[in-house]
Amino acid sequence: MDSLAAVNWQAHEEEAAAAVAAATAADELEEARVRYLGRKSELAQALRGVRDRDTGMLLNGIRQRLEAAVDDREHALAAEELDRRLREEVVDVTLPGEELPVGHLHPITQTRRAIEDAFLGLGYEVRDDQEVETVEYNFDKLAFEPTHPARSHRATFFFDDTRVLRTETSPSQIRIMEEKEPPIYMVSLGRVYRRDAIDATHYPIFLQFEGLAVDRGLTLADLKGTLLHVMQALYGRERRVRFRTHYFPFTEPSIEPDVSCGICGGEGCRTCKYSGWLEMGGAGMVDPQVFLNVGVDPAQWSGFAFGCGIERVAQLRHGIPGIRAIWDGDLRVLRQF
Ligand code: DAH
Repeated sequence: MDSLAAVNWQAHEEEAAAAVAAATAADELEEARVRYLGRKSELAQALRGVRDRDTGMLLNGIRQRLEAAVDDREHALAAEELDRRLREEVVDVTLPGEELPVGHLHPITQTRRAIEDAFLGLGYEVRDDQEVETVEYNFDKLAFEPTHPARSHRATFFFDDTRVLRTETSPSQIRIMEEKEPPIYMVSLGRVYRRDAIDATHYPIFLQFEGLAVDRGLTLADLKGTLLHVMQALYGRERRVRFRTHYFPFTEPSIEPDVSCGICGGEGCRTCKYSGWLEMGGAGMVDPQVFLNVGVDPAQWSGFAFGCGIERVAQLRHGIPGIRAIWDGDLRVLRQF
């Protein structure tokens, strides 16, 4: 106790207060606190040995003032630190942001929507029917003859004797005519399936759109005007449409519509194989047998139907060379459209 008694407590307090005030960071402050107020500090040791009241009051006074000084310094340092961070870590909200990659619709979806828009503009209703179809709807009611090659298991994906993956969107014709009375104006879009080997123009899964109009007195001229309107909506005002005769089980007469080539304007080029025309699919006047199959009176009603590949429309709109580029899903290709 003698050595402690010799301590000049006023000088000691000044020294401690100076050390606390000089601390410029939390660890320096802690160091000063341990040194002057910690368990092994001179002050703590002296307090443990106090015998008289005056010394006790003196030392306790020093301890309280030093503890208060440490608290003050701690708050001051925290405030300084906050100021510094606010100053240095300031966020410049005017800086250009990080650019997030944004995708866009697949060219098939874009084309599908363009087709839907064209027909909605004509007052058609848009349908999306089932892809697992019955032989009855896919073939029988569409008046496919029993020997038609599309009924072969080599041409079509069969689940069993009665069910197939639909080979065309034409069954939508049957479904809507069984659902409602004419007049009918509908377009059905969706996937179809065929056992085709993959090449530049074939893929076992592809998309079609199928149109059907049933009303009083419809003729081939109505079909031609409708297709002309849609082709011009899809490809441009300058396009023309022509018909070639053909055969389909569910239309009579049947035709194949062509649209004038947009690359050469009809002069003839490689794209149109120097004919000036591009094949667009199949069409025709609804066969009376089909009407009878769904209970529509062919003496009262007439109609036309058409079917086209959607990939082909996308290819022609964007100049995409092969159907695989569309189905492979290669982003380097798809990003361009
Ligand atoms: N379903 C035919 C096909 O996939 C296309 C077709 C031809 C649809 C004539 C029609 C039509 O509606 O009238 O080859």
